[in-house]
Amino acid sequence: MTSTSMRTHQCGELRPEHIGQRATLTGWVASRREHGEKLAFVDLRDHTGVTQCVVDNAVDVRPEYVLRITGVVAERPAESRNDRLATGGIELQDCVVEILNVAEPPPFPVSERADQVAENTRLQHRYIDIRRERMQRNLRLRASVNSAIRSAMESQGFVEVETPMLVPSTPEGAREFIVPSRQQPGSFYALPQSPQLFKQLLMVAGIDRYYQLARCLRDEDLRADRQYEFMQLDAEMSFVDQNDVHRAIGAAVLAAAAAAGQPEAAIETMTWHDAMNRFGVDKPDLRFGMELVDLTEVFGATEFKAFAGAATIKGINATGKADEMGRNKLDGLTDKAKKIGAKGLVWLKVAADGSLESPVAKFLSDTEQGALKSALSAAPGDLLLIVADEWSMTCEVLGTLRNDLGRPPVHEGPYRYLWVVDFPMFIGVDEVTGRPKPGHHPFTQPHPDDVEMLETDPLKVRSQAYDLVLNGWELGSGSIRIHQPELQARVFRLLGISDEEAQKRFGFFLNPFKYGAPPHGGFGLGIDRLVAIFAGEENIREVIAFPKTQSGMDPMTNAPTPVAQKQLDDLGIRVLPPKA
Ligand code: AMO
Ligand code: AMP
Repeated sequence: MTSTSMRTHQCGELRPEHIGQRATLTGWVASRREHGEKLAFVDLRDHTGVTQCVVDNAVDVRPEYVLRITGVVAERPAESRNDRLATGGIELQDCVVEILNVAEPPPFPVSERADQVAENTRLQHRYIDIRRERMQRNLRLRASVNSAIRSAMESQGFVEVETPMLVPSTPEGAREFIVPSRQQPGSFYALPQSPQLFKQLLMVAGIDRYYQLARCLRDEDLRADRQYEFMQLDAEMSFVDQNDVHRAIGAAVLAAAAAAGQPEAAIETMTWHDAMNRFGVDKPDLRFGMELVDLTEVFGATEFKAFAGAATIKGINATGKADEMGRNKLDGLTDKAKKIGAKGLVWLKVAADGSLESPVAKFLSDTEQGALKSALSAAPGDLLLIVADEWSMTCEVLGTLRNDLGRPPVHEGPYRYLWVVDFPMFIGVDEVTGRPKPGHHPFTQPHPDDVEMLETDPLKVRSQAYDLVLNGWELGSGSIRIHQPELQARVFRLLGISDEEAQKRFGFFLNPFKYGAPPHGGFGLGIDRLVAIFAGEENIREVIAFPKTQSGMDPMTNAPTPVAQKQLDDLGIRVLPPKA
């Protein structure tokens, strides 16, 4: 029931079955049209829809006036029926109109036409923008997703615990927002990048299964899938392996999908190595083919010097793309490949007679050409792209080109959910320090089979970290954590963090582990991304009520703004002039 002391129904509620009843509606004027000499049609709108009201045309109402209208529900005359509208069979007649508030003309129309308005204008007047159907739909979808997630987590025994927003600096990789302390001038809090450390301590504390719809803050460059502030389904579980975490989180995500009206889907699993080897990225989009095919053997004895002796040669078949890729576009692909780090890019077009057209075709023997076509299942009209390099570079370059050439918009079905598992513990070696760089946060448990190689062959060590991917977007990530203090110290030492420094930076986190830390693991799922995909939006700003622009501004409140000198004085802060 959504009736109140001011209304009996909402604007999208009345149907032919109500004909003859008196009804009182409240809402905003969507439009007003003259109807003969004495009457006017007013479409009254709220978030549920619009109702056509026949009013005396002497009543001066304009778009976005706030009205309360009482009238009798009547069948619409045949000529004004509107089958596209849920309320299109009825109208409100004999109306008494009460103007609850007047309104200036809105800065842009409250209709889908506002999609054409500059985004800054939409954000500056977000309260008007949110009156529109698209934004109402998105925010309500978001609420359903949150609600489904909460129920799914609670039905699995997870307990919601709130963690602080003013925290010490934590080693999670992104730049932090910091908050000056007034009581301890010169000291700062950080805003949490995620509740990571607190949720692990909740496991030491015996909470067993924790979850939170947690606000996270990171001072990152903003993009379509990134905001300074975002929400995570943050969860942690004790006495589990990674399959337990996958099941629990998977259940919540699929419950959210069902609440969002998405068709049922399964969640597949793939190792990081397979993802890189076959798709060239750690978040493969499984909705299209164009897989990376190994050609190292095909060119095992080649005389073509760009390929000769290369560690890994791989290719993709951009099926049917030969005609649309003119010289300029091909040069563009080559530039992109080189920008990523490739030494070059070989392209070959398959002609109508099956022959290969390419500046380098003459360097490839007939046998090589035949084997290449067969390995890539090449047919006339296809475009073949080949890279020769180290394994990881070859994969990365082709993976990027594959996405550029084949990837549909993220929200297009069918949905392909994927757990990517067995991420490497370290990604490469820091050029300056010569030490391995962590692939995830340094509290990630190594794969039990690989622990022995930590010191001897760290780059081969797999971790128990995993990501959840949907249609090529990373939805979230997590890991089984290190719960043994000695192993943690070993990992820190490998990263060049001495016991002393670790104590200083994370002592508050590490010391509790001496008092009986259970084996545990968890996950952080980006809710904004999940909702954006469900909502059919390309940018998470469209599913956030009050987002920041790309430059980190809020055009409605003008944040960030300078503050009063007195505030700065209290905090002991002096602002330097901007750097030239
Ligand atoms: P991670 O840093 O991978 O893991 O973040 C998890 C998920 O949060 C979302 N996300 C973002 N969404 C919008 N804007 C951003 N700036 C942004 N940054 C991250 C993504 C991402 O996959 N504490 C760990 C989780 C864990 O190990 O339990 C963590 O935060 O969807
Ligand atoms: P080059 O021998 O450098 O003139 O290169 C001849 C062709 O091979 C050019 O089209 C290059 O883009 C391409 N090429 C060079 N090195 C590589 C490589 N490692 N992998 C793929 N293509 C390459």
